[in-house]
Amino acid sequence: MNSGYEGFEASWHDLFWEAEEAPSELPLIEKFLEDRKGRCCLYIGSGSGRLLGPLVTAGHDVLGLECSSEMARLSRARFPDAKVLEEEWQNHEGKYAAIVIPAFTFQLFLDPQKQLARLSEQADALYLTLFFPWAEISGDLPPNEWYFDRKVVLPTGETGELETQHKIKEQIGSLVRKHRYTLRDASGNIVKREETVQRLRFFTDVALKNLLKKSGWKIINEINNLGEGDDNELVYVATLHLIAV
Ligand SMILES: C[S@@+](CC[C@H](N)C(=O)[O-])C[C@H]1O[C@@H](n2cnc3c(N)ncnc32)[C@H](O)[C@@H]1O
Repeated sequence: MNSGYEGFEASWHDLFWEAEEAPSELPLIEKFLEDRKGRCCLYIGSGSGRLLGPLVTAGHDVLGLECSSEMARLSRARFPDAKVLEEEWQNHEGKYAAIVIPAFTFQLFLDPQKQLARLSEQADALYLTLFFPWAEISGDLPPNEWYFDRKVVLPTGETGELETQHKIKEQIGSLVRKHRYTLRDASGNIVKREETVQRLRFFTDVALKNLLKKSGWKIINEINNLGEGDDNELVYVATLHLIAV
């Protein structure tokens, strides 16, 4: 089992995002980068270029940083003008006008307080999007068993399926998700299967505010659920614009 973003998890990544029909983060990142045009910003976990490519095309000076060689290769092939460094951020040195970490990449990092402190050494502005696993906590998604997650029809006529299994420890904010990717031919026979595992951290509102305060970040803007829905809805996704204080 690999720890992710190689094989099917890389090559089907964008197709699965599209299939989910979630609102795009792109306008939110663009808004954050608006005041920083012409100054170099770092995008940590730029993946297949899904968001990095359009940002660069729109004229933003954004450098991608991606630790999966397969994701970096997909990004360079699709968006040759978007520069991507293939490196784990924890080993990366540099100073930037701002850092953006969309999707939930930050939640893959061990020791969030230490990483937030390190981020403040590299930039004094940060864009962060985090998710909160309400469906797992409420039991809407059953723990410790495989369930269907998503399915896409591939350009070859084959299908790509994703099943997920999770373990959650609410007290310590830990979510471990196994992903099972299955390639099936047009008759439904299994051609190949791959499994990955993801270890994520999640934070209650209070825990997050505490963490940000301790690591020297101040929230200047907070957007719930990617700007969709109303104020009474549960916050599944929180986007924060932060400045170092
Ligand atoms: C959830 S995906 C999001 C990809 C992209 N931001 C998007 O929204 O399409 C997380 C990405 O971050 C990368 N990643 C995870 N940890 C990283 C690290 N420590 N340094 C650099 N990239 C990392 C993964 O390889 C993966 O491509």
